[in-house]
Amino acid sequence: MRAHATARSTPREAHGVARVRLHDHHPAPADVRGEVLAGLTAPAKHLPPKLFYDEAGSRLFDAITELPEYYPTRTEIGILRAHGAEMAARLGRGRVLIELGSGSSRKIQTLLAALQPRVYVPVDISREHLLESAHALAARFPTLEIEAVCADYSGPFALPLDPTWGGLAAFFPGSSIGNFEPDQARRLLGRIAAVLGAGGRLLIGVDLPKDPAVLEAAYDDAQGVTAAFNRNLLTRINRELGGDLDPQAFDHLARFDTERSRVEMHLVSRLDQQARVAGEVFRFRRGETIHTESSYKYAIAAFQRLAQAAGFVPKQVWTDPHQRFSVHCLRVDS
Ligand code: TRP
Repeated sequence: MRAHATARSTPREAHGVARVRLHDHHPAPADVRGEVLAGLTAPAKHLPPKLFYDEAGSRLFDAITELPEYYPTRTEIGILRAHGAEMAARLGRGRVLIELGSGSSRKIQTLLAALQPRVYVPVDISREHLLESAHALAARFPTLEIEAVCADYSGPFALPLDPTWGGLAAFFPGSSIGNFEPDQARRLLGRIAAVLGAGGRLLIGVDLPKDPAVLEAAYDDAQGVTAAFNRNLLTRINRELGGDLDPQAFDHLARFDTERSRVEMHLVSRLDQQARVAGEVFRFRRGETIHTESSYKYAIAAFQRLAQAAGFVPKQVWTDPHQRFSVHCLRVDS
């Protein structure tokens, strides 16, 4: 389902600030039911992580990024601040700048002044979050053209790009690439390369492998915000698909699998129980887990191999002084 409703956002225009247009691809709720039922029927139960980002989930996620234990956001922003000018030179100024999973658009703000993009194209699955951030950005950068796209970038999607706009660059921060299985990550990078075209540039944030205790704390904070974020998946399913899952009957679990170099998040059933979802009944044994998300950690060379397999040439990589996080600049091979 790819509806292309395009709404011009009049109130802001009336105030004479930058223009924000919304291209709403209506990330299809029909897919959600099938994916949830398939995930809960599988021998090892799992749920699609993109469901995390409803309105409540997006707010909880913003809170995660501020937690003392959650180092990736502030580390990545530190790298962007320290090397923004060099990054802008690598990416090229005056390009069309696409941001995947733009969320609150905080990171892009550190690059906009240096990059001076011709058009900014934020893509996010959460419509409210997308619009709110786009308007906030428009107010701060009054001459910036913004084409906001509400879409699920993990599948094929179209972008409102005019070929006369010239060179393309994409920004994919937050180590979101690590939330895909490696073969899916390679395919997603391949689709990004196809959208960008030969010579297009990608700036992408990738979390690095490190001490498991540091990693596990980042995904299981003392205040329980990540636990609430994880459980919100069940609340959303109850609301949107009709269900009676009890979020409090599941524990939050985060563990680092060294072998696969990934943090796994699970919801662990606290007891033998059953619940109804979308008219079907599911049983959960005590201790049985629902795998809700993985976060792969890539050493620099490992990520460069993945990018190369997707058609990119690694150009440069920046890290913080403690080697916690990396930001890669890649060019689409011609
Ligand atoms: N991609 C980031 C990461 O894996 C952010 C993120 C996605 C996240 N899902 C999450 C953080 C769930 C905490 C919990 O770290």
